[in-house]
Amino acid sequence: MNQRTSLVTGASSGIGLDLTRTLLARGDHVVALSRRANARGALEASPRLCVLDVDVADAAAVEHAVARAVELFGALDLVVNNAGIFLARPFTDYTPADLAALVATNLVGFVNVTQAALRRMAPRGSGHIVNIGTSLAQQPIAGVPSALPILIKGGIEAATRSLAIEYAARGVRVNTVAAGIIDTPLHAGGDKRALATLSPAQRIGRAEEISAAVLYLDSAEFVSGEILHVDGGAHAGKW
Ligand SMILES: NC(=O)c1ccc[n+]([C@@H]2O[C@H](COP(=O)([O-])OP(=O)(O)OC[C@H]3O[C@@H](n4cnc5c(N)ncnc54)[C@H](OP(=O)(O)O)[C@@H]3O)[C@@H](O)[C@H]2O)c1
Repeated sequence: MNQRTSLVTGASSGIGLDLTRTLLARGDHVVALSRRANARGALEASPRLCVLDVDVADAAAVEHAVARAVELFGALDLVVNNAGIFLARPFTDYTPADLAALVATNLVGFVNVTQAALRRMAPRGSGHIVNIGTSLAQQPIAGVPSALPILIKGGIEAATRSLAIEYAARGVRVNTVAAGIIDTPLHAGGDKRALATLSPAQRIGRAEEISAAVLYLDSAEFVSGEILHVDGGAHAGKW
């Protein structure tokens, strides 16, 4: 595969951090975004890495970051919509502030980044967008009530198929990795033994396993509109 330019949102922690390192190891140029990406200092400097402090809910900042990626590295081949927050609550306990936060990062962020990417990819006739979703969208768990984040992540699964069809003839693919419970700071303070029971594989997943799925999808040029579950089989049934 030729050297590619990738953009990862939510790159300062967890899945996005591992993915950024994995893409750099593949030889990509990478633009890594998060609200406090530079202050967190998680990413090692590289001439092939540009780290930008961007809130994905800010359309102008996202547009600037995507323009910067193209200006610096010449093109944009892969965009990973990974930035996200997760709030598990009984449905009637969600507050207006919870709703606003989930919509801003998980929905508006997805729209801002995807629009800015597609505006570059479609005229060029190539590109790939991967969204990081959750297997809870297809297989809810009684002990993890989370209908509001699922409303948005499930919608992004539908949009994955819709955009895959809308952009196929212009050479752009759109896929989603639906993750099971993955060991990241999102679960800081969580009981890992209890979390392990949420997969039939009886363990939580590793960020590298999500990165591997993104690399697979990026190499699979005839795959688009796919929801690839990486959850130890959780989406498949009951256990
Ligand atoms: N871990 C899991 O079990 C799991 C399971 C299914 C799906 N997922 C999904 O995987 C994605 C990554 O999760 P994770 O576990 O790696 O979480 P994480 O460790 O908490 O990392 C979240 C990342 O998103 C960034 N971020 C949050 N809000 C942002 C915003 N408005 N604009 C830009 N960046 C923002 C954070 O950095 P800043 O604070 O610097 O902005 C951080 O880099 C999320 O979409 C999540 O829903 C995770």
